[in-house]
Amino acid sequence: QLQPPSKSNPLCVPVIGLGTAAVHNDGDTVKAAVIEAIKLGYRHFDTAAQYGSEQALGEAIAEALRVGLIASRDELFITSKLWCCDNHPHLVLPALQNSLRSLKLDYLDLYLIHWPITAKPGMWEMPYSEESLVPFDLKSVWAAMEECHKLGLTKSIGVSNFSCKKLENLLSFATIPPSVNQVEMNIAWQQKNLRAYCKAKGIIVTAYSPLGAKGSKWDINQILDNELTKQIAQAHGKTAAQVCLRWLFEQGVTFIPKSYNKERLKENLEIFDWSLTKDDHEKINQVKQERMFKYGTAAFPLPDLFDGET
Ligand code: A2P
Repeated sequence: QLQPPSKSNPLCVPVIGLGTAAVHNDGDTVKAAVIEAIKLGYRHFDTAAQYGSEQALGEAIAEALRVGLIASRDELFITSKLWCCDNHPHLVLPALQNSLRSLKLDYLDLYLIHWPITAKPGMWEMPYSEESLVPFDLKSVWAAMEECHKLGLTKSIGVSNFSCKKLENLLSFATIPPSVNQVEMNIAWQQKNLRAYCKAKGIIVTAYSPLGAKGSKWDINQILDNELTKQIAQAHGKTAAQVCLRWLFEQGVTFIPKSYNKERLKENLEIFDWSLTKDDHEKINQVKQERMFKYGTAAFPLPDLFDGET
């Protein structure tokens, strides 16, 4: 399933991709999962310099080509991301080249600015304190991203974790507008305002943590164990995860559930031949909203990255 290109955005993104953000990314596990996913029909893979999954994804792609699971690289849509410590104009191109080297690829389909903050060079953890941050010069970093695109090293460029306010600023000077904004989105953080804004500007939304990052410390909303999702799932003879993913599909966004398990990889693809009812949508609209990633709070004493937007 492809997200069709629009008048203002020619990019064609496969609706569902495999996310590879995990607390511990064991190379063999990632490689096996990616190969399994390709066999099942996944064509979109999401990684980042910071996830530690680029190498294994690259090995899996090489093997898929070697054994003929795919005939050529361009059957895949590969996204990677520029980590905060490389959000310095002179570090953008070398960072992309490093990612390409790890992935053993000549080009990415999409390269994203991972977060709208800049950490000191070499800092690979999430910069949770003011001391680890330096001012983020979006204009120069974006110019470097545009350069990467012009060099043919990535077919498109975009951002992640950007608020409407930050997108508005970016659009005011971008020569190449961002194709995608990848953000936290699931039934417990529905992003209505941001989605409306992105739609108006022709920016594709990709939902990360579409299953609420189940099993991680971020899984505060436990959307797969929610009574409502379970009830809706039962009524359709589906699973709670399928309800969450089908809901995203019906919102017109793209999404990247992470699973390294063969059955769940398959289950997550089985969402295209049935639909939610109007009543399901009304109930899902009532789900209590809470952002998982809370910056600008006591737990993460950074400036409010999301500009107070809900
Ligand atoms: P696993 O890799 O063992 O399948 P998110 O994509 O929101 O970050 O959530 C990822 C988490 O959800 C992973 O822990 C993953 O575990 C789990 N998961 C993925 N698909 C399913 C599913 N269909 N049912 C239940 N859990 C799932």
